[in-house]
Amino acid sequence: MALYDLFLNNAGRPIHKSGHYFFAYERHFSRYVGQPVNFLEIGAGNGGSSQMWKRWLGPLARIVTLDINEVCRQYADEQVHVRIGDQSDEGFLQSVIDEFGAFDAVLDDGSHHMQHVTASFDYLYPRIASTGVYMIEDMHTAYWPDYGGGRGDPRSMVERFKGYLDELNAEHVRDHSVTPSDFTRSTVAMTAYDSILVFERAPLINKAMKMIGDQTLRVNY
Ligand SMILES: C[S@@+](CC[C@H](N)C(=O)[O-])C[C@H]1O[C@@H](n2cnc3c(N)ncnc32)[C@H](O)[C@@H]1O
Repeated sequence: MALYDLFLNNAGRPIHKSGHYFFAYERHFSRYVGQPVNFLEIGAGNGGSSQMWKRWLGPLARIVTLDINEVCRQYADEQVHVRIGDQSDEGFLQSVIDEFGAFDAVLDDGSHHMQHVTASFDYLYPRIASTGVYMIEDMHTAYWPDYGGGRGDPRSMVERFKGYLDELNAEHVRDHSVTPSDFTRSTVAMTAYDSILVFERAPLINKAMKMIGDQTLRVNY
């Protein structure tokens, strides 16, 4: 795991990640390595993670990092762009989209408070690239009341994720209790890990079920 190696051997600005997150990063972000990716990380922290993404993703990558803390401005360089604002402020998020365009990948490592996490997701997810991926980490906080979470609490992003699972499958809900939405039509996959939630989009999703093959060999089941 090249990215994990970069993390373990980091001697520069500190990076704050759990080890098992690297399994998810590699699975969902590897396709952008060496590509001209527009990558957004919410939460600059000490500035180490944006350097890690830059080193891993390569010279064509544009790393944009958002933080509420002015101190983070100092982390900017030729590939890393830092913008200061609140991740739950729609006007701020739109200004970042206006400046950089739709993001291919978003990683939310910001406040981890449910009101911020859900506000960012609600605004950004429909506005990422139609083939984009949206990852939210540290979602153990979705179980913590002091972060606005709690098991069964509708404000929890994990509870929201469970609802989105029904929305992903809305076309199959025969009692029509879930209505197919833009989310249904544009989301191709949802993946959950310990503390990580991932949503992936695709512009064309062929869901037609077909029986393909020699029909004379068909048996009834
Ligand atoms: C966990 S740290 C980020 C760590 C960094 N990504 C890393 O991997 O090393 C969280 C960051 O989110 C920022 N933050 C907290 N609340 C925020 C908000 N409402 N909007 C934007 N950033 C926020 C904090 O200032 C802090 O720098």
